[in-house]
Amino acid sequence: MRKFTSVKDVADIHKIVGDAIELKEKPLLDSKLGIGKTLGIIFMNPSLRSRISTQKAAMNLGLNTIVINMEKDCWALETRDNVIMDEIAGEHIKEAAAVLGEYCDIIAVRDLPKMKSRDDDYSENFLKKLIEYSDVPVISLECGTLHPLQSLADLITIEENKRIKKPKVVLTWAPHIKPLPQAVPNSFSEWMCRAQREGLLDFVITHPKGLELKSEFTEGATIDYDQNHALSDADFVYVKSWSSYSDYGENFSNGGDWFFDNQKLKFTNDAYVMHCLPVRRGVDIADEILDGPNSLVIKEAGNRVYAAQIILKEILGKL
Ligand code: CP
Repeated sequence: MRKFTSVKDVADIHKIVGDAIELKEKPLLDSKLGIGKTLGIIFMNPSLRSRISTQKAAMNLGLNTIVINMEKDCWALETRDNVIMDEIAGEHIKEAAAVLGEYCDIIAVRDLPKMKSRDDDYSENFLKKLIEYSDVPVISLECGTLHPLQSLADLITIEENKRIKKPKVVLTWAPHIKPLPQAVPNSFSEWMCRAQREGLLDFVITHPKGLELKSEFTEGATIDYDQNHALSDADFVYVKSWSSYSDYGENFSNGGDWFFDNQKLKFTNDAYVMHCLPVRRGVDIADEILDGPNSLVIKEAGNRVYAAQIILKEILGKL
């Protein structure tokens, strides 16, 4: 594995989930694998889970880590080609990435979409140039379109907690106070569609009309605009807000009745409730759900360590 930016970088999702669950039993079994190697973890934006879980995974493998808050600690970066750099950016991604490649054996990066231009965000320009110019394996910690380590942790969590062989998994849109990126739902959908193709689960997406995700990420999913109908018999409900893809970045203002609470839970098969976190209590999910017995959100966040660790282990094995 030379990069991990999408489910497409994984040859066998069933195996990688199984390997992660096995590794969770003995997380220090490979504690010498990364000795002498360095993981650079670059943040363009804030993070709690991605920041700490990736460092913890690296420590479990004996890797050194360097955490860089790029926007605060380094020079402002220019990512466009063939421009005269007479504005704020003091360094070009070509040099910055190449230099990081000199210091690090693997790079992990968070670069959230700016939500101003769909073309810019969906081009993944920064991520692609980091991969090209650093010339070392790169792991996405959420970029313009996808959040693959979150989705791998989600699939691990589903596999660990499923009560039947082929559970029904529902991704439901939720209201929010501001427009959120589509990276988490795109990624969750991409992983669940792949899992569905491989017979592991059934996958349904429910959201108000106008909030359709880009179709390349939802191929094979059942789209149901009736939330209560979609939730019927659900074994897992993944609650997440996102803004419009077609009317890029626009928030949906009439979504109050999509709020997920115990009334909504009654439509399901006593489903487990998931969310990538951070979550605003009382905005998209009710406290009674987050504090209740059906919530998996903390276990899900815990599994971010093992998702990161299995990917780092795969990459280290090929260095
Ligand atoms: N779920 C997730 O990626 O959380 P952070 O933004 O805190 O890393």
